[in-house]
Amino acid sequence: MQFPLKITETKISTVIAGSSVWDSLDGLVAELIQKDGKVFILSDDNTARLCLPLLLDKVKGLQRSVMLNISPGESGKNPENAISLWNALASGEASRNSLLINLGGGVVSDLGGFVASTYKRGIPFINIPTTLMAMADAAIGGKTAINLQSVKNIVGSFSLPEATFLCPEFLSTLNKSHLLSGLSEIFKISLVADKSFWEYLSSLDTGQLFSKQLNLPLWEELIARSAMMKCKIVEADFFEKDSRAVLNFGHTIGHAIESLSFRDKQMPLTHGEAIAIGILCESYLSMHQCGLEEKEFRRITQLFISTFGDYGITDKDIPVILGFLNQDKKIRDGIQYFTLISSPGKAMIKQPCDRDQIIRSLEFYRNLTSKH
Ligand SMILES: NC(=O)c1ccc[n+]([C@@H]2O[C@H](COP(=O)([O-])OP(=O)(O)OC[C@H]3O[C@@H](n4cnc5c(N)ncnc54)[C@H](O)[C@@H]3O)[C@@H](O)[C@H]2O)c1
Repeated sequence: MQFPLKITETKISTVIAGSSVWDSLDGLVAELIQKDGKVFILSDDNTARLCLPLLLDKVKGLQRSVMLNISPGESGKNPENAISLWNALASGEASRNSLLINLGGGVVSDLGGFVASTYKRGIPFINIPTTLMAMADAAIGGKTAINLQSVKNIVGSFSLPEATFLCPEFLSTLNKSHLLSGLSEIFKISLVADKSFWEYLSSLDTGQLFSKQLNLPLWEELIARSAMMKCKIVEADFFEKDSRAVLNFGHTIGHAIESLSFRDKQMPLTHGEAIAIGILCESYLSMHQCGLEEKEFRRITQLFISTFGDYGITDKDIPVILGFLNQDKKIRDGIQYFTLISSPGKAMIKQPCDRDQIIRSLEFYRNLTSKH
């Protein structure tokens, strides 16, 4: 695949990648700086150490920016951080034309995007994703959010960055667990929208993906395909009134598992690892509810278990997961609405499932992983 300079440039999303990505970023920053001159760069401790030096070297105009920093990890998407970032913007006399650059994974782009979209009712921001998850998914599409009372993404906004710049060289410092996390969203997008991409992914030798020296051209190709597909889906339904909900496949149960892993388990899962489990459970529901063929279901199960391994859930966990599901926005009269798939590449939104079906899907996963 030819890696395009501009994956897309429409009213909805500008996603820029390829060999001249730094020049394009330099040009956009120069244009935006003209209006006010103030630039703020948000990073977390890891991206400040591992990614900021490269950014400042490539885009010299950013060297005088105000640096804002948060501690790494999902817990950073909290209201206290949002308040301290609003304070920092106010103390730095940010105007409506000041620029915020989000340099980091999905936590930084979700939090930074939310802060930028609310400070003075919205200032321009640019996303420079540094994790696979953020390059392939989180930093694209204009959804921003923070978590509240251990519920994911419960406060947020739809707000578009000026552009998202994809620079896969940042991946070289990312650990395997975070590469896996992003890979689950890439698998998801193929399952809901692109059968040939799914066929390609399921034929890949995962050893090739996780070699010590990362195969960056291969990762670039996967990121570009995933990002393009996400842009297409978002452009059809920016405010998620309808078809954008295909992107929620795996996320209803996945978010509940993620909340469980934060609350009760000593080793919290990454977002994508939790989504991988959600995809397995929701593929089970898809087989029983939407006619997903058993042989396809088995292929999905095999690929996900061999790629992501297992995460034991116990009988005791199931009511806790159901409790988290009850807080979900997609529940009405005790019926939960899911995005499911009828075959790889074909998603069906608003599929009703009752509590017993959901319990059976969780029991399927519990039994599957207790065998390993
Ligand atoms: N807005 C959306 O559409 C959307 C979509 C998917 C996910 N998300 C959100 O994204 C978040 C998960 O994103 P994530 O997986 O990127 O998590 P993350 O931002 O927490 O990053 C994972 C870890 O990698 C570190 N890191 C980042 N870049 C690095 C690099 N280049 N080298 C080494 N370490 C690096 C970070 O410091 C962090 O410790 C979740 O909060 C999820 O809800 C949002």
